[in-house]
Amino acid sequence: MSKPSLLVCRAIAPEVIARLEQHFEVRANQADVPWSQAQLIEALQGRQALFATGSERIDAELLQACPDLRICANMSVGFNNFDVEAMTAHGVVGTNAPGVLTETTADFGFALLLATARRVTEGERYLRAGQWTRWQYNTLVGSDVHGSTLGILGMGRIGQALARRGHFGFGMKVIYHNRSRLEESVELETGARYVSKDELLCRADHLVLVLPYSKTSHHAIGAAELALMKPTATLVNIARGGIVDDAALVQALRDRHIAAAGLDVYEGEPMLHPGLLEVPNVVLTPHIGSATGPTRLAMANLAADNLIDFFCGDGPTNSVNPEVLNELAA
Ligand code: 8YV
Repeated sequence: MSKPSLLVCRAIAPEVIARLEQHFEVRANQADVPWSQAQLIEALQGRQALFATGSERIDAELLQACPDLRICANMSVGFNNFDVEAMTAHGVVGTNAPGVLTETTADFGFALLLATARRVTEGERYLRAGQWTRWQYNTLVGSDVHGSTLGILGMGRIGQALARRGHFGFGMKVIYHNRSRLEESVELETGARYVSKDELLCRADHLVLVLPYSKTSHHAIGAAELALMKPTATLVNIARGGIVDDAALVQALRDRHIAAAGLDVYEGEPMLHPGLLEVPNVVLTPHIGSATGPTRLAMANLAADNLIDFFCGDGPTNSVNPEVLNELAA
């Protein structure tokens, strides 16, 4: 029997390509040439499977133009690049890669929180610019992380991992808001207390965003929400661009409605709102929350597992539209 045909649309670890080649006819974009949507559609012709990175738009137009496609596997936990409804309507399975990046991303959330609160990158810029000529009591004073109030918006796996770090590592009071309240045992285990969104905004000294991006979470943090935050507060976004209204954030940072922000994700990335490059009180990183060697490898292997299990096993573990699998099994 001939192997199914798979498109791997961005460069990934060569050992994962080698693994995939045992099960699929693989076309891999190891040169990492960025494809337009039209090129992606063309490259998908006659193929049954797609290995995606989380950035490729899988929408009704693409699905219509690629009738052989049966599964799209993201090597990311976020799957806002999928139009899940359209995929389900076309009988195409979508999978994501949860779990394997939780601790790594939570580590990074804390790195960004600490760098933002303690003005680490501002300090480095100051030093490199030769401005450090003497000690002063008020040079680059920031805010304390230990003992402060950590607010978490979105309390999935990564939110809970952040809560544990804050509560047990830094002695922080942890409050959270989420679509649904966690079970009491999880609240106890993470040291986190459920509050309304407004209370979260008003009380947090450091607010970290870890909610998935959707139409409902678009601009969940805009001018009105920023106005509720303390002028001493910091805001950290490790979730998705679009959850924060970047133009409103630039204004709030300029006007010092909040003290500082740490951002790993942006609306329309890799483009940035130009104002973000002008304000000093923001730490900017290029979407590297999950970027450690072992984690990126684990993410790629999990996406590969999902693809292999779809064609040669009991079905993928991480389907985002299991109803398609049920239909196929019926
Ligand atoms: C990925 C992410 O690096 O998993 C996610 O949702 O945001 C990141 O860990 C990115 O999506 C590319 O795979």
